[in-house]
Amino acid sequence: MNGAPTPPVNLQAYEALAAERLPRMVYDYYAGGANDEILLRESRTAWDALRIRYRVLRDVSHRDLSVTIEGHRLDWPVIVAPMAFQQMATPEGEVATARATAAAGSGMILSTLSNRTIEDVRAASNGMVWFQLYIYRDRGITAELVRRAERAGCTGLVLTVDTPILGRRERDLLNGFHVPPEFPAPNLGVDMRSTLGAQSDMSSALAQFILGHWDAGIAWQDLAWLQSITSLPIYVKGVVRGDDALLALEHGAAGVIVSNHGGRQLDTAVPTARALGEVADAMAGRGTLLVDGGVRRGTDVLKALAMGAQAVLLGRPILWGLAAGGEAGARRVLQLLRDEVDLAFALAGVRSPAEATRDLLA
Ligand code: GLV
Repeated sequence: MNGAPTPPVNLQAYEALAAERLPRMVYDYYAGGANDEILLRESRTAWDALRIRYRVLRDVSHRDLSVTIEGHRLDWPVIVAPMAFQQMATPEGEVATARATAAAGSGMILSTLSNRTIEDVRAASNGMVWFQLYIYRDRGITAELVRRAERAGCTGLVLTVDTPILGRRERDLLNGFHVPPEFPAPNLGVDMRSTLGAQSDMSSALAQFILGHWDAGIAWQDLAWLQSITSLPIYVKGVVRGDDALLALEHGAAGVIVSNHGGRQLDTAVPTARALGEVADAMAGRGTLLVDGGVRRGTDVLKALAMGAQAVLLGRPILWGLAAGGEAGARRVLQLLRDEVDLAFALAGVRSPAEATRDLLA
């Protein structure tokens, strides 16, 4: 033995490493959930609770994990979720994520709350990049962000709808969470610091910013408005009900992302592993269906596909990879998960995503 530390063996081990390396305020912001974090915990246990009725003797010697999402061929059915302020994890921030994602044959959704510009992130990837945004009280700011995303070459917009107001994250309140002044927020369309400057210790600066700028009054017709100003497909993120998924399609969405914002908004909301089946049934194959929330194992990905998702969004583990080793760390996280997905397919008798059907679940 040469005494070198053992590399993390799974995604949870990356979180443990990141927790050691990141400042407490940053780790808590990334890791935390709303209120008592009941949903945060259940997001994981709900996947764990599902059992796999695997098939046998199906010649799984060749497996093809690739999927095509709205014209984008991905090598495997995982896309990196939008996550805020990635320079707090690694100096290159979202550019490192873009490179790691492209190298892993995956796609990426860039958060509006990012530290690197849309243009730099788009240029760092030859793969799929979508832009995530909110609707501002000042619709002109939203329209300008959409134009920037289009000009930069993003091929989809993700509208987050579970955050009319920021959830109550008690870790952030206790830590007086703020984005360190050295990190810019160039895709917000407004100067974040003008709002974030004047914070008292016990108030989360981000929550104040959101209250000031994002429109809590948006409703379904605003989705139609957003669609009217762009030809990019729009994916509505934050849906947990079949009826809402149908409304999204009726108002022009290209697809739905079953999500509850990683347990960071409404605590005790339904975990996505339990909501996905209802949404898949309602959509009945119309539009793109993606899911996130608590995915940490290859078996979780298999279960999500079996329930009807076309791909899965991976969130926090990417931040843990970035914190542990920058772009290479994020790449290793993706590789670990990809290997697990491949193994889960083989052991379940599934040779391609199309063969991951609902009968696999018990
Ligand atoms: C932002 O979207 C957050 O969850 O902090």
